[in-house]
Amino acid sequence: MSTLVIVGSQWGDEGKGKITDYIAQESNVVVRSQGGNNAGHTISFDGEKFALRTIPSGIFNPKIKNVMANGMVINPKQMLEELEGLEQRGIKDYQLFISNRAHVVMPYHQDLDGAYEQFKGDKKIGTTKRGIGPCYADKANRIGIRICDLIDPIIFKKVLKDTLTIKNMELKMLGIPEYDFDSLYNEYVEYGKKIKPFVCDTSLLLEEEIEKDSKILFEGAQGVMLCLDHGTYPYVTSSSPTGASVPLNAGIAAKNINNVLGICKAYTTRVGEGPFPTEIEGELAGYIRERGHEYGTVTKRPRRVGYLDCVALNYARRVAGINYLSLMLFDVLSGLDKIKICYAYSLDGKIINTVPASLDEYYRCKPIYLEMDGWNEDISNVRSFEELPLNAQKYLRKIEELTKTEIVIFSVGPDRLQTIKLKEFF
Ligand code: IMP
Repeated sequence: MSTLVIVGSQWGDEGKGKITDYIAQESNVVVRSQGGNNAGHTISFDGEKFALRTIPSGIFNPKIKNVMANGMVINPKQMLEELEGLEQRGIKDYQLFISNRAHVVMPYHQDLDGAYEQFKGDKKIGTTKRGIGPCYADKANRIGIRICDLIDPIIFKKVLKDTLTIKNMELKMLGIPEYDFDSLYNEYVEYGKKIKPFVCDTSLLLEEEIEKDSKILFEGAQGVMLCLDHGTYPYVTSSSPTGASVPLNAGIAAKNINNVLGICKAYTTRVGEGPFPTEIEGELAGYIRERGHEYGTVTKRPRRVGYLDCVALNYARRVAGINYLSLMLFDVLSGLDKIKICYAYSLDGKIINTVPASLDEYYRCKPIYLEMDGWNEDISNVRSFEELPLNAQKYLRKIEELTKTEIVIFSVGPDRLQTIKLKEFF
């Protein structure tokens, strides 16, 4: 049995799409198990660039089964547009399976996302405003609409009627225009018809694949520090992007998860609000932001930039079960005289090595750095560890030492060819 979970080990945007695409070439199945179109996975190959939001990264390879599992929240309108966009660019031969238990993001979820953010004022989360939080909230509140409801016009009518009564009351209370049942139903029932051919019980499909000993890749969205349970709550997303969440979100047994590959940048970024101890500003932040194209795939917001935070990375390793690392955007750091790595925090004069639960405490954490010599060489054409300048080799080894985790891949540019695998692990 061979399964691999890909997990963002920082605050998202670590380059999971690229590594998923790279490893997907060896996989039989690629699964997205949480989140929705708040994610933005950029994949480049053959000189072309694709930005995926909801659809799994194996979609470009006709041999790969792509699964959108039960833990996802799916905006059917956006998902169909994404699929049409891919088809228009020649991606027509694909295999896609959507869980009948996944939840549907409705337009009122997006309205509510925007309204909550507005009401929170300067305490806003900085969400992607895609309705993800309100959709998961309805799921937990047992007033959500599932894909199995959407694709059956009779059931959908009944479920939408009940739900919309409640949601319209909520919208009215917040001063947001209510939805007319008929027009919402008529629009969404059509999406249901288009989606229906892809819908199945994906847990059954995965069981069959596990029995066949297929290679299954679970593609995480967001990052561990944005996990609803283990992230910097409340500045988090509304699902859990850890290895432990995969069995629940995909309907498989926990014992089927073999390996968890944590994807991390050679530095740190974060979008949205919340604590970020190693954040830097000014010229250096600008240098890294421009070289790393650190602007949101979904929202285009400039990302906050900082030094590599090995306390947060170690925390992510522990709570997400990471046993390998992939170091991304390594080339971005070329040209720096000195590079810092945070290996501990100082909290009110005490040295700590973990992420505190209290946000107030986390805001008070000051990073403790070690400083390393940088390198000037352009490393984007490097194709092996040995070709890296000595200081870059030392930087990579230092991260392994501080995180007690082996780096099995490093990446020096956006193309598939700029991905250097140091060890077979899948
Ligand atoms: P939401 O997931 O839209 O509710 O946003 C909650 C937080 O997660 C915000 O800080 C977002 O910027 C962040 N977030 C959500 N999805 C991603 C992602 O794919 N990459 C990076 N940050 C994300």
